[in-house]
Amino acid sequence: MKPVKVGIAGLGTVGSGTVNVLKRNAREIGRRVGRPIEIAHIGSRRDNPLCDITGVRFSEDVFAVANDPDIDILVELIGGTDTARELVLTAIRNGKHIVTANKALIAEHGNEIFHTAQECGVDVAFEAAVAGGIPILKSLGEGLAANHINWVAGIINGTGNYILTEMEQGGRSFAEVLDEAQQLGYAEADPTLDVEGIDAAHKLTIIASIAFGIPLQFSKVYMEGISRITIEDVNSAAQFGYRIKHLGIAKDTGSGIQLRVHPTLVPKEAMLSAVNGVMNAVMIDGDAVGPTMFYGAGAGSDPTASSVVADIIEMGRALTVDYDERVPYLGFQADQMSDETILTIDDISCSCYLRLHVQDKAGVLADITRILSDHHISIEALVQKEVEQGLVPIVMLTHNVREGDMNAALKRIAALDTVDQDIMRIRVETLDA
Ligand code: HSE
Repeated sequence: MKPVKVGIAGLGTVGSGTVNVLKRNAREIGRRVGRPIEIAHIGSRRDNPLCDITGVRFSEDVFAVANDPDIDILVELIGGTDTARELVLTAIRNGKHIVTANKALIAEHGNEIFHTAQECGVDVAFEAAVAGGIPILKSLGEGLAANHINWVAGIINGTGNYILTEMEQGGRSFAEVLDEAQQLGYAEADPTLDVEGIDAAHKLTIIASIAFGIPLQFSKVYMEGISRITIEDVNSAAQFGYRIKHLGIAKDTGSGIQLRVHPTLVPKEAMLSAVNGVMNAVMIDGDAVGPTMFYGAGAGSDPTASSVVADIIEMGRALTVDYDERVPYLGFQADQMSDETILTIDDISCSCYLRLHVQDKAGVLADITRILSDHHISIEALVQKEVEQGLVPIVMLTHNVREGDMNAALKRIAALDTVDQDIMRIRVETLDA
């Protein structure tokens, strides 16, 4: 039978994994599709791939793949947004179907890409863009399609989770663990994308669109990373019975949608608390199914290739299916997307963890608690620790507080002469279904 011809652009960690998985499981993959998948053309600037590409047509120019008339599917694995956008749009206009692992591309340019793909009658699949090997997009868009989705909360950046786990379990420094995550191929080429929450925000943008049928709105995601978290915070959270996890949260409140990524205190007994290292996990709460949780490797060569190859297989099967009968790009029909309001962070209320360092003087604590009380913030627990370098660390947990009230109180507390400016606030989520 005529093979499905695949062109791969990019031979880094994920590109090499994709070649390896396609070759290793070629027989089984062919049985699943009904015809063989052939890697017909590879485009890459690298000449030292971690895979065997003997006998495959090779170009240094990735656009040679997008313009190759022989190719049915272009697999975009070069990363970044500018060249990747141009490459994908070129391939679409040439009538190629697209598989990509590029979360930044989909989150920031997906609306344009899907519009062009629809005009050209081609498919775009991007399972590997979110949570590596976990088939979370397919689960949301197909397996859970009967549900009204209430909320999604997940650990969707493996590098960040790896760093937080090593800080907690190994007492290791942030910088040392980040370096290791880069060597292991988990971190992005620019690791600020991981540690400042941008990578997680890209992924949450995609999750939210498929969960709620809304356009991709990356610019509306509230974003905080883990770069300011200290070992002191990790240990203090543990004393209160929590772990610090970097979560992406998309919630339908009934009066708008929350889209936020930030470090979060999660109760130790919650399932997400047990997700360690580079592993990812996503909880989805649907009105019919209730709470569900999906767990697996969120980064790395073979796990990400698992999702890329699954998309190639699905596309290989669908090549002969009428365009209108395929699953829509974002799970909802393009003309049925909702314009529901995206809430700002000021609209949320939650409990908070606060860590501050104050001078060891009478009345300092009274000043702080008075300010909190002025802003209707009630304290659930407070621990004053031993003096360190002339300052006293204070950590506390508050009851539920409006974000606006907390911001106003923190501004006044930071202005006190007796308080160090470096104040940490971490939101608490109990993840009750
Ligand atoms: N840098 C990403 C992560 C890779 O650490 O999760 C997978 O998207």
